[in-house]
Formats: sequence, C-alpha cells, structure tokens
Amino acid sequence: MRIVIGGDFAPTEFTEKDFWLGNAEKLYTRELLDYLQTFDFRIFDFECCFDGAGEPIRKHGPMLTAPAACMAGILPLHPSLMVLANNHSANLGTAGVLHTIELFGEQGIPCVGAGTPEEASRPFILEKDGIRVGIYACAEHEFTYATEARAGVNAYDPLRTFDEIRDLKAVCDQVIVIYHGGILDWRYPSPGEQRALRKMADCGAGLVVCQHTHCIGCREVYHGSTIVYGQGDFLFARPTRNDLRYSGLLLEAEVSKEEIRVSCRVRVKPKDTIRLASPEEERQILQAFEDRSRELADEEAVRRHFREYVDFRRPQNMDTIAGRSLLYKAYNKVTRHRRRDDWFFREYGTDQLLRLLNFIDCETHRETLLAFLKQSSGVEDD
Ligand SMILES: [Fe+2]
Repeated sequence: MRIVIGGDFAPTEFTEKDFWLGNAEKLYTRELLDYLQTFDFRIFDFECCFDGAGEPIRKHGPMLTAPAACMAGILPLHPSLMVLANNHSANLGTAGVLHTIELFGEQGIPCVGAGTPEEASRPFILEKDGIRVGIYACAEHEFTYATEARAGVNAYDPLRTFDEIRDLKAVCDQVIVIYHGGILDWRYPSPGEQRALRKMADCGAGLVVCQHTHCIGCREVYHGSTIVYGQGDFLFARPTRNDLRYSGLLLEAEVSKEEIRVSCRVRVKPKDTIRLASPEEERQILQAFEDRSRELADEEAVRRHFREYVDFRRPQNMDTIAGRSLLYKAYNKVTRHRRRDDWFFREYGTDQLLRLLNFIDCETHRETLLAFLKQSSGVEDD
C-alpha cells in the first residue's frame, strides 16, 4: 500500500481566487497532480475551516477561514483523508468544525482528528489488499480543542493519547500518527516534543509525522519507527520573513504488514503556488534535511538547539510576561530594545520569577492558572 502525506494546507487570500476557480494546474502544476495520483491514498492537513457556519472563537493567533467555494481547488487533488487536528480547523467553533467535516463528507472525503466530543479522537483506518493502516491525529492545545462538552480538535493528552495509539495498533497492521505541534519556523524538536513522539513510536506507531512548524525539520529512526520532526507545508500561501517556508516534504509511505518504509519528495513554493522541486533543488534540500537528521544521533543535540531557541525567544518571552503597556513599549522604542533586560529584571526580581515558575511548573497551580486565564479572557472553559 502506498500513501502520500502532504503537510499544512490552507487556501489564503493570496490563492483564494484560484481555489474558487478550480485552477489546479496553477496552484499545484500538472506534474504534481499526476504524481499524487500514483498513490493509493493521499492525506493532507487541512489547516483551515470553511465559512458558512459558526462564529470566530476567542483566540490568540491567525483566524484562518476560507469560502466553501474553495472546494473547487481542493477536489482535483483527490484527497483520501483530511486531517483536521490542528489549530485552525475549529476557528469557527463547534458549528464551524462540524460544517467543515460535513462539506468534505458531501464530497466523499473523510476527516480525522476533529469532531464531536465522542468522535474527535476516533482514528481512521485505510484498507487495501488485506493491509489495515490506522491513522491517528492529534494537536497541541491551541484554543481549538474538543472537550467533553464541545466539538473540536483531538488534543494531545498523555493520559489518553498513548493508550489510544496502543489500542489502534491492536486492530491494525500499522499505525501512522500525525501530530500537529512543535516549534514554528524551527528545524529541530524540543526535548519534550521528542520524548512525546518517541513514546508514540513505542506505543506502536511505525511513522510519526510532526506538522505545524511550516518548515522541513529533521527525522530519526527510533526503535524501528520513523519520526519526522517538521514536514513543512503542502500549500499554505502566506507572506514569510525567511526562506524556511519555501520547501515542504511529501512523505511517501510504503506500507506492508511488516513495516513502513518512508521516503521523501520535495515541493517548493516560489511564490504563492507550489510545484515539485527540480532534481537539483531536491538534492540540496534533502541533503540539508539528512545533515540535520544525523545530528540527532548526538543525544545532546536536541537540548543544544533548544537552548538556542530559548535564547532566540528571550525578548518575546520577556514581552509576554511584562505585558505590553504603553510605557514599556515607549521605553523599548527609545532605548532601541537594548535595555529590555534592565526594565524586565527591575520589574521582575528572582522572587517574582520563581513564583511564576512555580505557577507553570506545578500541575495543580497550572490548572488553576489556566482556569483563571480562560475565565478572565472569556474563553469557553472545559
Ligand atoms: Fe498549525
């Protein structure tokens, strides 16, 4: 059985018209469309929801939605399965995500990774020639998740997710997990992400794919399973500040009862549309991917790259904690952000930072803090 998995996929204002008009050859090229049809199954992460039902939820982050007419540009891909476990498929709340599932259903396209409280975590099973492959999809908590009381996305939950993967493996020959999480625009996993995804492999997933990061990351073979930390986009046309979003992987999974063999093709996005990479582009991009992947053999590498990321995020983290008062912004502007540390550590001494750390590190304090923040910001609570 041959399966191709595409990464994050959303019509945006830059491509919407071509989606309405069904300009598939412009959006993807004929070569890419023909390539996709050589597989038994095509899976994409639909990181969006269709307009027409529901209301925008309260959230921090982009509010992606698309007119239902965009379906005309999706159908030529002949998707076999749409993954909705992501931070945008429920941007229009309960009614919105169910509407999106319904519209795909009318076109004969099943979805996985979102739905009613009873259905959100339900896997989807692909079957061909006597081989059963279970597809399990979950996402980090970013506002869109289902609860016992509302429809939404299947959230990654260590108290549930690992058991669900084990249960799926018990009734399938192979399991593929699609995990929506990780560090945006960063090519390496965090230590926590690596632990979680390795655990999924130990629970029976022969392939674990991490989406959401919008760039190609790295991969490792762990206890016989392949883990891809960052697939990159399929087609997600938004302005970017760097070239990270230029390339994305098309993951080819050759599945037998015994194993999942994984290989990669590369698609590139010269502007707002995509095409298969040329042989030379592909060679260079995959070479860099394999170079990063080799680094993972060093147990310290992930921690080292994560420390680099924490340093990179230092100013943003200070801003998040300090708030964005006019005075704080004016001070940073006048000092050209060179004295942010002075302000921050004057306002937040060690005692205050330890207090904050304790509130986030301790399970019960964190649960209480989350409830307070949801209550205070008007986010619908569990
Ligand atoms: Fe995402």
